[in-house]
Amino acid sequence: MEHIRLSRVKKHYQKGDSEVCVLNGIDLSIDIGDTVAIVGASGAGKSTLLNIIGALDRPSSGEVFYKNESVFTQDDNKLAAFRNKKVGFVFQSHHLLPEFSAIENVMLPAMIGGSGNHAAARARAGTLLRDVGLGARLDHRPGELSGGEQQRCAIVRALMQEPEVLLADEPTGNLDSNTGREVFKLLLELNKEKNITLLIVTHNEELASKMSIRLTMQDGNIKTTT
Ligand SMILES: Nc1ncnc2c1ncn2[C@@H]1O[C@H](COP(=O)(O)OP(=O)(O)OP(=O)(O)O)[C@@H](O)[C@H]1O
Ligand SMILES: [Mg+2]
Repeated sequence: MEHIRLSRVKKHYQKGDSEVCVLNGIDLSIDIGDTVAIVGASGAGKSTLLNIIGALDRPSSGEVFYKNESVFTQDDNKLAAFRNKKVGFVFQSHHLLPEFSAIENVMLPAMIGGSGNHAAARARAGTLLRDVGLGARLDHRPGELSGGEQQRCAIVRALMQEPEVLLADEPTGNLDSNTGREVFKLLLELNKEKNITLLIVTHNEELASKMSIRLTMQDGNIKTTT
């Protein structure tokens, strides 16, 4: 069943007199439970594409459909709820809030999402962190965690609201190869257990080869290899 579809998505930026074309009419269809690697040179538009799929950014033209519904024709409240409830986002750098502990960082989406039950959010955040081996680090601030621990924390934060799709922008970029493999294993387990659709930007060929679909971005377009 189709999960996400892009139809002629373009993104361009105006820079002085010239126009920078980053996405040049992307057509793409991703099914529920697909695991997708997005690869391509620096500047190829990978983060731009991921941000548009996660509704963090709008296309200049074209349409994005989520379960056959047009994403960007929704009003701002619905878009915010979509980002909070349906999509988990792991950013290129982890974006944890430095003044909050690990467990508080993981709880944040639930508090922002307004479900409001502090105790239940704390319990779920604790379980998620224990699942990724951070049970002894709940009260550590990001600065008191290793790079891999910060990344695992950012991943479980993205899972807090039980998203249907996880978008991860180089989740293993700053990790040594063993920790990177562990993080990938975790993501693929999530896909198996909960059928979460995965879209992962990565420069790591070994990890990309474990995904069912590989998209290579080049000159604003996409080449698919399965
Ligand atoms: N606000 C902006 N104004 C103008 N150009 C921009 C803007 N944001 C991004 N770009 C350009 O869009 C292109 C794509 O950027 P993007 O971040 O999507 O690349 P990427 O494939 O994720 O690269 P990397 O692997 O380095 O993270 C880059 O050439 C960038 O300079
Ligand atoms: Mg990027």
